Amino acid sequence: MSDSPAEGILRYHEQTKHHPDRYARSIGYMDWDNQPNPFRVYEGAPIVSLPRLARDPPGGHLALYEPDRPCAPLTLANVAGLLELSMGLSAWKAFSGSRWSLRMTPSSGNLHPTDTHLVLPDMPGCDAGIYHYSPLQHALERRAEYPGELWRTAVAHFGCEGFLAGLTSIFWRESWKYGERAFRYCNHDVGHALAALRFAANLFGWRLTCLTALSDEAVETVLGLRRTDYPPLDEEHPDLLCLVHAGGQQPIPQTLPEELVAAFDKTHFAGRPNALSRAHVDWEIIGRAAELSRKPATPAEPLRFERPQMIAADASTLTAGAIIRRRRSATDFDRRRGIPRPHFLAMLDKTRPRDGVAPFDAGLGEPALHLLIFVHHVEGLQPGLYFFSRNDRDLPEVRRLARPEFAWEPVEPGFPLFLLAPGNFRQTAAMVSCHQDIAGSGAFSLGMLARFGDIVRREPFRYRYLFWESGMIGQVFYLEAEAHGARGTGIGCFFDDAVHELLDLTDDRYQSLYHFTVGHPLEDPRLTTLPPYFHLRDR
Ligand SMILES: Cc1cc2nc3c(=O)[nH]c(=O)nc-3n(C[C@H](O)[C@H](O)[C@H](O)COP(=O)(O)O)c2cc1C
Repeated sequence: MSDSPAEGILRYHEQTKHHPDRYARSIGYMDWDNQPNPFRVYEGAPIVSLPRLARDPPGGHLALYEPDRPCAPLTLANVAGLLELSMGLSAWKAFSGSRWSLRMTPSSGNLHPTDTHLVLPDMPGCDAGIYHYSPLQHALERRAEYPGELWRTAVAHFGCEGFLAGLTSIFWRESWKYGERAFRYCNHDVGHALAALRFAANLFGWRLTCLTALSDEAVETVLGLRRTDYPPLDEEHPDLLCLVHAGGQQPIPQTLPEELVAAFDKTHFAGRPNALSRAHVDWEIIGRAAELSRKPATPAEPLRFERPQMIAADASTLTAGAIIRRRRSATDFDRRRGIPRPHFLAMLDKTRPRDGVAPFDAGLGEPALHLLIFVHHVEGLQPGLYFFSRNDRDLPEVRRLARPEFAWEPVEPGFPLFLLAPGNFRQTAAMVSCHQDIAGSGAFSLGMLARFGDIVRREPFRYRYLFWESGMIGQVFYLEAEAHGARGTGIGCFFDDAVHELLDLTDDRYQSLYHFTVGHPLEDPRLTTLPPYFHLRDR
């Protein structure tokens, strides 16, 4: 008997849980000869080389969040700057004869399943067209042209100038290593990428609005995915389209005019996608999960949040650009060092959705994730288990469902952080994160607890959105950790139900979707670091 899409995707979730005695299925070893290429190329597509930023856009730490910054003109150089600071390379690392690139965004296993496409209007240096971004070359590959006047329909529809950015996922890049849990990781990465784009846009004084009313079919039509012959299992799957814009008509319609989508369906798309590896393992469950959570067209639901005062007393002395560029994942922490309480509170505060404030104003809908925090070493705060609410709607329910003995003691007046139970949770935190020491040896770590079952049952595509939201929260923590002289690491490997048991949650009303840890990093002295674009120094 076949499941409904909702039951099917919930079953995917259940089946891909890690348990202490049983991990989700994967190939179980690293098939290095067959590792997928992390860089997609459309061979034969005309190339537009992009300039690199001579100087980052001005602005300190809080420029990442400031609404209404001066709006930069829509030029190719500024679009290139946006890409460089979001989806570009951040460094190369070398060790013992091998070398690998890192990017502005993190990615599970550094496998980078997310690709970026742009729909640009006519501008000096580039014709109106649909482009794929190559982070390795810092270049655009022109996949298709379209008549410039078509864009004027879009401008009239949106009520403002701008361009479209689209994200896609290549599941095989992640499933090569992680097997059936990889669909989750691809979606975490989409969230990281979306937040990275939103932050970079903010530095140029631009906003970003996800066109969440569109169906996946419309997204793949616009990006030409339906008119491209991909090598089997190397396909790009549509994630989202968003408008990067200067503001204007409020709210921005979260869809596209039908004639625009229809026009792209007749367009010729150039370029032959490269094959990413020699052979594939077909994790059918992943293709099925994608199908079950495919998005239909839905009504737009513009949502406004409050904009409570941001905790800013502790702003970093680093520039926003420097914070973005130095983001890295910690691999080891100095156990003896903690972080001050004001820094901790300021980091949490940045994860609250605020109207017009990056990144959670991107239009994904009502926030559904909260933080279950293991405080290990925050100066001025007793170690213990804490809960941070990102949406008051869920608080009464979580309190009712969670262990009755929890204290729910507010930490600061008017701030939605509560002490549940004091104590040393270092061991517990490491255990629930697949015994990873970094979850117990830093200043704090956390699980992101999503309101889950009812959301996914109502609209199965929101399974992906919940993971996107978790990736966005992760991106905020990565940048906030850097801003405060610490470092973070996203943690996709955790024992799902062991986390739920800590709260005594026994059904799927709330589920932990992603973990994160923050502390003072210990560097690995064996690694050499090279600049991000040293390989293009002659260009
Ligand atoms: C969704 C996701 C899950 C991750 N899971 C883990 C993890 O379980 N353990 C870990 O040590 N690092 C984890 N990482 C960190 C990646 O290994 C890291 O991002 C990647 O190696 C690239 O390095 P960079 O972040 O320094 O650029 C994760 C990152 C992401 C985005």
